[in-house]
Amino acid sequence: MRDVRLDNLTELATASFEGLTDARRRELVTRLVQVLHAYAKDVRLTHAEWRGAIAFLHRMAAISSEERSEFTLLSDVVGLSSLVDLLGSSPGATPGSVLGPFHTVGSPWLPNPADLVRDNGGEVVRLRGRVCGTDGAPLPEATLDLWQNAANGLYWQVDPTQPRDNLRCQLRVEAQGAFEIRTIRPVPYQIPTDGPVWQDLVEPAGRTAWRPAHYHLIVSAPGHRTLVTELFDADDPWLERDAVFGVREALVGRYENGPDGPVMQLEFRLAPA
Ligand code: BEZ
Ligand code: FE
Repeated sequence: MRDVRLDNLTELATASFEGLTDARRRELVTRLVQVLHAYAKDVRLTHAEWRGAIAFLHRMAAISSEERSEFTLLSDVVGLSSLVDLLGSSPGATPGSVLGPFHTVGSPWLPNPADLVRDNGGEVVRLRGRVCGTDGAPLPEATLDLWQNAANGLYWQVDPTQPRDNLRCQLRVEAQGAFEIRTIRPVPYQIPTDGPVWQDLVEPAGRTAWRPAHYHLIVSAPGHRTLVTELFDADDPWLERDAVFGVREALVGRYENGPDGPVMQLEFRLAPA
């Protein structure tokens, strides 16, 4: 490497990772190096711009913690999280969507039909659905993990006025793959605006911080690919401008008026593993 030049640097840097023994890791790293080099050449990246980018990463690190990852937020607002979800979605199956920062493992198991309303204010609604395979056959062993925000727009982890595990549960579907959840209608809310991702990148672009109201779900069944997804409200004003690109047509449902109030009917289709 006595003579590192513009015309051999990419090859040298790429080759320096050939020793990675895990083939997939080697592919991920070497392709990343190639793409980064191509990007820098394409935009003729200057030293001042490179320093600015490093400083931005430092500001992101400074505000990140166990509970709050500015790096995930960056991935969300540039559409990388959604890209990974879409790449992982199978034809014929319900598409995946953003996991978001508010999932915690071990939500309480509730009987099906489940009731999450308790002391929550807001509009009481029902989700009524079924889980099936891409062939439409019900998956009676499926389980659901659901979480959502409260009427004030907040998830329980960031709102000391809510009890632990408010508005979240796990449940098992019935023999025909059916489930029902009585809950309150989620409301739109904003991605964090106190960090560099919003302040230096998203707001200057004239974008919105809002996410349309949604439920988060993880749907699992033996022998099938686990689905991490969201469910949106057709009447939401922010559907067209989700700050993190999570909306897919197949994930937009409408509340219909039933005898017990608004009901959204839905179906989740899981791909074989
Ligand atoms: C959420 O869905 O809760 C969320 C997703 C991305 C960024 C911030 C919040
Ligand atoms: Fe969310």
